[in-house]
Amino acid sequence: MKILGIETSCDETALALVEASGKTKPRFKILASAVSSQIKIHRPFGGVVPNLAKREHIKNLPIVLKRVLGKKYGMKDVDLIAVTNGPGLEPALWAGINFALELGEKYKKLVVPVNHLEGHLYSPLIEGKFEAKSIYPAVGLIISGGHTILVVQKNLTTWEKIGETLDDAVGESYDKVARLLGLPYPGGPEIEKLAKSGKPDAIPFPRPMTKTKNYDFSFSGLKTAVLYYLRDNPKYKKADVAASFEQSTIDVMVGKAIRAAREYRAKSVFLGGGVAANMALRGALEKEIKKLKIKFLTPSLKLSTDNGTMIAAAGYINLINGKARPAKEIVAESNLNL
Ligand code: KG4
Ligand code: ZN
Repeated sequence: MKILGIETSCDETALALVEASGKTKPRFKILASAVSSQIKIHRPFGGVVPNLAKREHIKNLPIVLKRVLGKKYGMKDVDLIAVTNGPGLEPALWAGINFALELGEKYKKLVVPVNHLEGHLYSPLIEGKFEAKSIYPAVGLIISGGHTILVVQKNLTTWEKIGETLDDAVGESYDKVARLLGLPYPGGPEIEKLAKSGKPDAIPFPRPMTKTKNYDFSFSGLKTAVLYYLRDNPKYKKADVAASFEQSTIDVMVGKAIRAAREYRAKSVFLGGGVAANMALRGALEKEIKKLKIKFLTPSLKLSTDNGTMIAAAGYINLINGKARPAKEIVAESNLNL
């Protein structure tokens, strides 16, 4: 089955054509994928402006679709259209939904809504072959600009959320700390770059919620600690602040994910979402996971940040397992959760 995945929940217009087969052990082949990023347009505002995003998505969707189909494929080859319907910026979500419904109507294709977070959750499965028996139960850590979630996955389509952030998402804290340091949006990649030349143990920033027994997170206090440090140490070294802040977030996330993996006797740990593109985090998590002798599944960098492939994959998994909600009228749900 060939699935067209459409993602417009934030500032990337992302489409992909994915070939999929299998039910409990799905296999994917990425036939084409394209992302048109609006970062440069939103950068002067220090964050994403919803109505600007919508306008750009509407403009870019047909262009990106053409790029994805290329000379090789046409809409006639598409068996299913999967579109993100939440969570995200409502006007941006509507751009993708309306486009998907119009395509569905015109070419008589089934359209299914996809939860963006399920896309991130399934993203580690897209590139690798895996045996369902040997990876579940799995602990999944989904970390993005809007979410920080820990789940325990019993099998491909059943999971329980065991923790999430009580305030800022971890990606949001990277974006806010970057702004404090005068770095452009989005802050995650900027902080990571800068941190490479700094000392991670230079400043003892707090490790919020590491002493609590639950799996919830909190990052707004950490951001405030950085703010106070900058105020009280005007001669601060930017790279040390970046490295120490990054290390604090890594310690918190790795600590919670590993504790969950032990408690739930996980056979693997999944990592997905934009912040999963952080190499220092990947390295630190992988090192601890190896000690437990379990598997570490995370997508390549391209599939960590928002993309159409993960939406196609999630749409396929839901449909084939009877969990999709094919609908003529799909509505944007900006606060959708896992
Ligand atoms: O998943 P994503 O592309 O969009 C959302 O669903 O939110 O995640 C974007 C977030 C932003 O906050 C960005 O700063 C962060 O991921 N991010 C990173 C890195 N690359 C992106 N954070 C830390 N290190 C990175 N290398
Ligand atoms: Zn995302």
